Amino acid sequence: MLVSKLIEGRNIILRPHTQKDFKLIHQWMTNPQVTGEHIDISLSDLRKGYEERIKGDYYLLFMIDRENTTIGFCNVYYHRKDPESKIVDVGIFIGEIGYWGKELGKDALTTLLIYTFDILDIEEVTVTYNKDNERIKRLTTKLGFKVEQSDNIKGKTTKEEIEGAKITKEEFRQTVSHTEDGKLFYIIS
Ligand SMILES: CC(C)(COP(=O)(O)OP(=O)(O)OC[C@H]1O[C@@H](n2cnc3c(N)ncnc32)[C@H](O)[C@@H]1OP(=O)(O)O)[C@@H](O)C(=O)NCCC(=O)NCCS
Repeated sequence: MLVSKLIEGRNIILRPHTQKDFKLIHQWMTNPQVTGEHIDISLSDLRKGYEERIKGDYYLLFMIDRENTTIGFCNVYYHRKDPESKIVDVGIFIGEIGYWGKELGKDALTTLLIYTFDILDIEEVTVTYNKDNERIKRLTTKLGFKVEQSDNIKGKTTKEEIEGAKITKEEFRQTVSHTEDGKLFYIIS
């Protein structure tokens, strides 16, 4: 599914991806310092994988821009590839290491969650990550995700080292603020 607009966060912007961005994504994904593992994939295979997903109507890909620099990407994946599903899995990836630890991951994920709950009208969001990834654990815990082994998460992997967490729209309302008519916006410390 193609994303057609800019979504403004506090210090970042989520924007539609372009063909050029796959080169950057490939650079980040194959950098063990970024992913913590050795991922051996060619640019054309990576491009194919993403293009398949983007062609469908169950996957959204946003690039994360900080001022004039593209620093990462994030995505929304509808449960069971069903665009009617009210459950999605999200991913967040800051590929530029120099930008880690500056709360930009928090900014991007919060912005993505507001969009997902308010605009896409999703009821539950899951996220999966390696158990030893302390950054994402702290980030998701801070935003109100709870570690869980529900079928929505279990179905994704059988790997021991993978952990999953989820958050509902109601739970996310406790993290961010909302206007009188229910629109979410964020003030988080
Ligand atoms: C995980 C990731 C998105 C976090 O983004 P970030 O911009 O570095 O994180 P933030 O600055 O918003 O901080 C998030 C939390 O991590 C904590 N953190 C920062 N550096 C840390 C470190 N070295 N160890 C543990 N926690 C750390 C921050 O203190 C913050 O928690 P707090 O608010 O309780 O203090 C980013 O590091 C990343 O994309 N890494 C590579 C790809 C990845 O792992 N993606 C997640 C898989 S789904």
